[in-house]
Amino acid sequence: MTSEPSRPSQPNHPALSNLLQEDRRFPPSPEFAAQAVATKELYDEAARDREGFWAKQARELLTWSKDFEQTLDWSDAPFAKWFAGGQLNAAYNCLDRHVEAGNGDRVAIHFEGEPGDTRSYTYAELTREVKRAANALTELGVERGDRVAIYLPMIPEAAIAMLACARIGAPHSVVFGGFSADALNSRINDAQAKVVITSDGGYRRGTPSALKPAVDAAIAKGADTVKHVLVVRRTGQDVDWTDGRDMWWHDAIEAASEEHTAAPVDSEHPLFILYTSGTTGKPKGILHTTGGYLTQCAYTHKNVFDLKPETDVYWCTADVGWVTGHSYAVYGPLANGATQVMYEGTPDTPGRDRWWAIVAKYKVSILYTAPTAIRTVMKWGEQLPAKHDLSSLRLLGSVGEPINPEAWIWYRRVIGGDRTPVVDTWWQTETGAIMISPLPGVTEAKPGSAMVPLPGIVADVYDDEGKPVPTGSGGYLVLTEPWPAMLRGIWGDPERYKETYWSRFEDVYFAGDGAKKDDDGDIWVLGRVDDVMNVSGHRLSTTEIESALVSHEKVAEAAVVGAADEMTGQAVCAFVILRGGADEGPDIATELRNHVAKEIGPIAKPRQIMIVAELPKTRSGKIMRRLLKDVAENREVGDVTTLADTTVMRLITDKLASQPKAQED
Ligand code: PRX
Repeated sequence: MTSEPSRPSQPNHPALSNLLQEDRRFPPSPEFAAQAVATKELYDEAARDREGFWAKQARELLTWSKDFEQTLDWSDAPFAKWFAGGQLNAAYNCLDRHVEAGNGDRVAIHFEGEPGDTRSYTYAELTREVKRAANALTELGVERGDRVAIYLPMIPEAAIAMLACARIGAPHSVVFGGFSADALNSRINDAQAKVVITSDGGYRRGTPSALKPAVDAAIAKGADTVKHVLVVRRTGQDVDWTDGRDMWWHDAIEAASEEHTAAPVDSEHPLFILYTSGTTGKPKGILHTTGGYLTQCAYTHKNVFDLKPETDVYWCTADVGWVTGHSYAVYGPLANGATQVMYEGTPDTPGRDRWWAIVAKYKVSILYTAPTAIRTVMKWGEQLPAKHDLSSLRLLGSVGEPINPEAWIWYRRVIGGDRTPVVDTWWQTETGAIMISPLPGVTEAKPGSAMVPLPGIVADVYDDEGKPVPTGSGGYLVLTEPWPAMLRGIWGDPERYKETYWSRFEDVYFAGDGAKKDDDGDIWVLGRVDDVMNVSGHRLSTTEIESALVSHEKVAEAAVVGAADEMTGQAVCAFVILRGGADEGPDIATELRNHVAKEIGPIAKPRQIMIVAELPKTRSGKIMRRLLKDVAENREVGDVTTLADTTVMRLITDKLASQPKAQED
């Protein structure tokens, strides 16, 4: 099923509709600017010689076993090679070299479990654990180039497992713990993973929630490549066991030697695959490689977050199942030798002030989170953060979706004590690292705008014809020059890579986002212009959810739209035609929502399911999602003249008017 592209000039979040009237400005304070890591000279330097700039970053921020010969090889565009001829190991860069430099006693990770248990790892301890895990994986037969799937909660073993893979040159594929067994099965098979690393479970909202059964079910559905399952004991829940295949993580680690030399790999050696939703039903395995990815993670983490590794305590609230957790909870901070907090659970357990208690306890100085979380804590009220001493915070970051100016202002005032810079960072799974963001201490920020491309990055906003729009206008966000952390392709599907990102406009990367350039030329990212939804900062595909719905025996046809939602940015709304004779029944909506949770995962459950008799289609059979979005957002239905049957929308609105509104959680 296809749909019309939505117009990029229509902001898809209600709070963004007035964005061009936004005239509040937040210049850096003189005190902050005087101490800032980033300086405005970075822009000039990168503009003078972009490749030279990146080569300098790569050599300054990373340790190479063998220096590279060529900064960028773009001869086979859009397949890039960065730092060709160079060799390095990502885990060595995140661990050993800090110990060798005398920083082994610095804390790398302060872990806070949801029930309140804590563990801290110094760089020396983390290095030791990763060495043992690398030896354990080798013992299980994992060799350079083999893929390892990781399906874990947000516990230190997730970072240890990722780094152990990097250490032996085995690309990891982390699958978010909220995905279902079916989703895990397709990801394991697409990557042909040899080993799966999981846990008995993790803690969520005060109760242990199981993970291992999903791995068992995923493998039972057929996953011939999987030879072993390593199981971390986290909750102590009973687990089913397959002898010969399953092994406890702690047994494997205890048996393993703590001597291990990291193997240098080529700069372009695959570091990981991470699946993300696209416009078609099947998630794409986004491929990232080693040298360019790590360079840009380290560079952005240092400059965008103003990192002072000796004194800062940094906390990124993202789960390792998403790209933010890869780049800013593992590779960026560890490459820079930072001390960070890792928290397992939800922000409201045991109370709605848990995050602020954590900030106060560890004296967090840099906090990086998503607008959906900010809007949620805003709703819970100012008195909760006010109960805690948040004076250690000196910088706040936002990522994942457009941040509405009111949330931005609230974040700075209530959490940042009216003194911290706020950096709104735009990037994607595909870009690997931050691309557009203010530089704290340099940029005068505007609430709601990601501002300008970072030094070394070139972005623009194009119109339908592929021409840059003038200031004050909207269009499509594009990246006009290759960048070090760019995806190197879609796992196993080079054609889809070219088609998805490089065919909309000639020779430039099409991000799939609508954007505006304001009168100063600053960029405002407005949201997706394709069939991808952004729900609580999570990327979901309309077509993937439609496929899940039509796989249910009672469903004949389904159309899904992302409707504006004050809390989650967008919410999934599904319009469903039942098969002839299927019994609608009072529980049909619940049944279908649970079916989507089983097929994809609870995060994809539609907020609303509307049973209809018809769907609006053009004469060529395309579903007009624009009209369904009008219904889902309670707007007057727009222009219906291109519909094959112009009475359909009236049928739908009349039917819905006669249905009880509920069908929500
Ligand atoms: O629509 C943009 C939105 O999130 C999409 C990328 O999602 P994902 O690959 O899951 O990565 C999320 C974390 C990097 C983008 O295409 N997005 C991300 N950051 C912002 C944003 N939209 C507006 N402002 C942002 N700062």
